[in-house]
Amino acid sequence: MNQLITQLEEHKTEIASFVVNNKEELESFRIKYLGTKGLLKSIMGEMKNVPVEQKKDAGQLLNEFKVFVETFYAELSSKIEDASGSSENKIDISLPGQPLPLGSRHPISIVHNKIVSIFQRLGFSVAEGPEIEDDWHNFTALNLPENHPARDMQDTFYISQNPDWLLRTHTSSVQIREMEKKQLPLRIICPGRVYRNETISARAHCFFNQVEGLYIAENVSFADLKQTLYFFVKEMFGEDVKVRFRPSYFPFTEPSAEMDISCLICSGKGCSVCKRTGWVEILGCGMVHPSVLDNCGIDSTKYTGFAFGMGIERITMLTYQVKDLRLFSENDVRFLKQFTQA
Ligand code: PHE
Repeated sequence: MNQLITQLEEHKTEIASFVVNNKEELESFRIKYLGTKGLLKSIMGEMKNVPVEQKKDAGQLLNEFKVFVETFYAELSSKIEDASGSSENKIDISLPGQPLPLGSRHPISIVHNKIVSIFQRLGFSVAEGPEIEDDWHNFTALNLPENHPARDMQDTFYISQNPDWLLRTHTSSVQIREMEKKQLPLRIICPGRVYRNETISARAHCFFNQVEGLYIAENVSFADLKQTLYFFVKEMFGEDVKVRFRPSYFPFTEPSAEMDISCLICSGKGCSVCKRTGWVEILGCGMVHPSVLDNCGIDSTKYTGFAFGMGIERITMLTYQVKDLRLFSENDVRFLKQFTQA
C-alpha cells in the first residue's frame, strides 16, 4: 500500500512538471497517461494484485489519481486552444469585409421614374391598368371601330382563347378606363408595358414601355398641351433643347401632332441617329377627339382635353445614347451596371 502511495506521488510530480507547446505534444501526453495502453490503464490493471482487505483504500487512491490526471489534461488542452486561437484561428476583426455586390436600377426604370416625377410636379397622378385588354378599351372606345384601317397601324397580339382579348398596344386603354369613371377634371399619366407584333430589331421590339398623359377639364386648349410638353422637354433634356410640332394623324385625337426635339447627339447638325435631319421624334399628341369623350360618357360640348404618348425606350436611348433597343431586355449585367441614378 505504501508502495502504491509513493509510486502515485512520483507520477504526480512527473505529470505536474509536464509542459506542452502544441497540439502534437498535448496528444502525446494523452496517449502516454490516458491512452488505452497508457499509465492510468496499467496502474488500474494492477488492482487485481492488491490484497482484498486493501482494495477499498487502493481504489480510492487510484480514483483520486485518475481525476488528477484528467484535470491536468483538461488544463493543458485549454492552454493550447487559447494559444492557437491567438495565432491561427482567431478572427481578425481588422480585416476588410467581403464586399456585397450591389445591384443598380434598370435604365428604363431610371428614365420612367424621372418622367413620372416631372409630370407629378405639374399635378398629374399615375393611373395603371391591365396588360391584357378587351377590344373596347384598346380600340373601339378610342374611335377605332372594327375594320377601321387605322387598326393596322399597330400589329396586335390577340389572346387565342377569346377573340375579344388582346395584349394592349398602348396605354391609351388606361385613359379610357379612367375617363369612364367620369371624375372630372382628370389629369393623369399612364406608364406601363405595351405589346406589338413587330419584327425585333435595333429600333423595334414586340414589347416596350410607354407613358401616356391625359388632361380633361373645361377650356383645355392646344396651347395647354404645348406648354405642358415644353415644360417636360426642358426638365427631361435641359434648357437648350429645341422643340417642333408636326401635324399627324391619330384616330383618337383631332387635331393630332408629333413632337420632335433637336438631336441630342449632334445638337441639330445631322448624324446617323437623327438620319441627318437634326430632329428626332419623341411623342404623339393631340386634342382628345369628341367621339372618345362621348364613348366614355363625358359631355364633349362642355369638356375638352389633350393627350400624349411616348415610348420610354426611345427617351432612354436618347438620354444615354444607346444604339440598340434590344439591350434593354437582354439582362446583360455588363450593360445594366453602367447606369446610375440621373
Ligand atoms: N397611343 C399612341 C401610340 O401608342 C400615342 C398617342 C397618345 C398619340 C395620345 C396621341 C395621343 O402610338
